[in-house]
Amino acid sequence: MHILLVASAFNSLTQRVLAELQDRGHTVGVVLALGNDDEMREAVRVQAPQLIVAPMLTSAIPEDIWRAHTCLIVHPGPPGDRGPSSLDWTLQGGAESWGVTVLEAVAEMDAGDVWAWSPLKVPPVAGKSDLYRGEVADAAVDAVLLAVERFASGRHKPQKQEPAALAAGWRPFMKQAERRIDWASDSTETILRQLRAADSQPGVLDELLGVQWYLHGGHPEDELRGDHPGELIATRAGAICRATVDGAVWIAQLRPWREPGSRLPSYKLPAAEALGDLLPSGVPEVPAPLELPAERRTWSDIRYSEQGAVGVLNFSFPGGAMSTAQCRRLLEAYRFACTRATSVLVLGGVRDFFSNGIHLNVIEAAEDPAQESWANIHAMNDLVEAVLTTTDRLTVSALGGNAAAGGVMLALAADEVWCRDGALLNPHYRLMGLHGSEYWTYILPRRVGESEALRLTQSALPVSARRAVELGMAQRVLQAAPEELGAEVVRLAAELAASPELADRIARKKAMREQDESIKPLQRYRDEELVHMRRNFFDAREPHAGLRSAFVRKEKALHTPPHIARLGMAG
Ligand code: COA
Repeated sequence: MHILLVASAFNSLTQRVLAELQDRGHTVGVVLALGNDDEMREAVRVQAPQLIVAPMLTSAIPEDIWRAHTCLIVHPGPPGDRGPSSLDWTLQGGAESWGVTVLEAVAEMDAGDVWAWSPLKVPPVAGKSDLYRGEVADAAVDAVLLAVERFASGRHKPQKQEPAALAAGWRPFMKQAERRIDWASDSTETILRQLRAADSQPGVLDELLGVQWYLHGGHPEDELRGDHPGELIATRAGAICRATVDGAVWIAQLRPWREPGSRLPSYKLPAAEALGDLLPSGVPEVPAPLELPAERRTWSDIRYSEQGAVGVLNFSFPGGAMSTAQCRRLLEAYRFACTRATSVLVLGGVRDFFSNGIHLNVIEAAEDPAQESWANIHAMNDLVEAVLTTTDRLTVSALGGNAAAGGVMLALAADEVWCRDGALLNPHYRLMGLHGSEYWTYILPRRVGESEALRLTQSALPVSARRAVELGMAQRVLQAAPEELGAEVVRLAAELAASPELADRIARKKAMREQDESIKPLQRYRDEELVHMRRNFFDAREPHAGLRSAFVRKEKALHTPPHIARLGMAG
């Protein structure tokens, strides 16, 4: 079929639905609903789709379109659930199971006939965006594929929703008043639920050190305690810890509140960095040991563990963004992991983003963004180089979720890349006005060939896990729920470590690295890439700074970007 996707943004779910439909042989176009209905009408007219699907739509499809075409809307709730803050209410209420429904568009929101739905389990750990990119995306894809199949059959009759159920299922937009934390009385569990229901957007509005902030990210703390609930009691790697009536919580990021209409920017930063000089000098920095006992309930973004001959270096940074400091800490942890007597070393292996490259928010907030970009790209390159030059063991990148730009190259620096089914790779830099670094000119062609590397970086489109394997970018697709990924990765890594060919493989890879180095040293790839990157970062005529600023400030495009709009034309 030819299917047109209508979406408010080319976000992770829209990209995933696109990739999954393409993987199944459909041709797919995309038009973004950016307040210009005529652009949508034109895309429908030119592409004449057999079916329209809206994976993530925050506005209505114009009536003339849904009357003339079957339009299927993805709603992140089970049949009967309605309203714009579905996941927020669900997480706040502490539900353990939920669902995603595919409904036909009608005049009333979420009131159309049901074409398909898929249930899901809500794990206790996930914040809203993490849940959305994991279990919700999995269920949404299942429901969309079933609905598309049913539509294609021409025989399926979607199920009507009864008026009484429709009225009962409506839940309104969740306001900040309903997200409020009462530090004097709310328990740690209640506070965590509030934070998770608001993460990553819009955050929980709260006062800290006399300033109004949106709090982002919530994790429990089992040892640190304070005298007064709400009090700031510690920092760790950019996160802050606040006392509660019965314990304490970690908050990873802060975003300043601004007066309505203010021109001052408001974007997330690591919490301690956002506080800056406000941070009282007496608040201690409490580092977490790299090898944290499994029973500890605390927050840390990098952990190392071992099972026999397998070392696992878990890391997870909000939004997959890696600042200079985060890259350096991860490199230090990687170097430690390399001192251990293991034969297979796994990187990643946890749910959600693997890495999205350098930290554009931290860069934007820096006194000298160009210098900070330079430091960040060097720190990222040092990390990638360490992986590329590890020749005494096999390395595996295990992607529980998506990776983009330098984050893809970090993954591909390892000997094997394993992707959870549904993970997306965006192996390109062009949309951020960057030539790219992280040894991509070595890493990508060696996996996929020169011409495919060029196509991937120029087309700037997402690659599904399955397609990544076909192209040679990845070796394995893992069929595991986000919560099961860690255990599955360790099981497969143990198999690899026990394989009789392992010693040979390690010897071969060492020889190959030496041969590659003699043909063209890694340093030359790095230097050549950095000539371009220096210009991208430091030359005021380059588009990068403007693109970064728009990205960080979440400025909306006015039209569907050409590389996305072109997609449908091929169909
Ligand atoms: N720096 C800072 N923040 C980043 C980031 C980066 N490199 N990459 C992603 N994020 C943040 C987003 O701002 C977003 O924040 P939010 O939760 O507050 O909304 C969050 O991570 C999730 O990203 P989002 O864009 O909503 O996810 P997505 O799955 O729809 O899209 C990408 C993913 C990777 C395509 C998109 O985020 C992107 O283009 N990132 C920039 C990649 C890049 O150019 N890196 C620098 C070059 S190495």
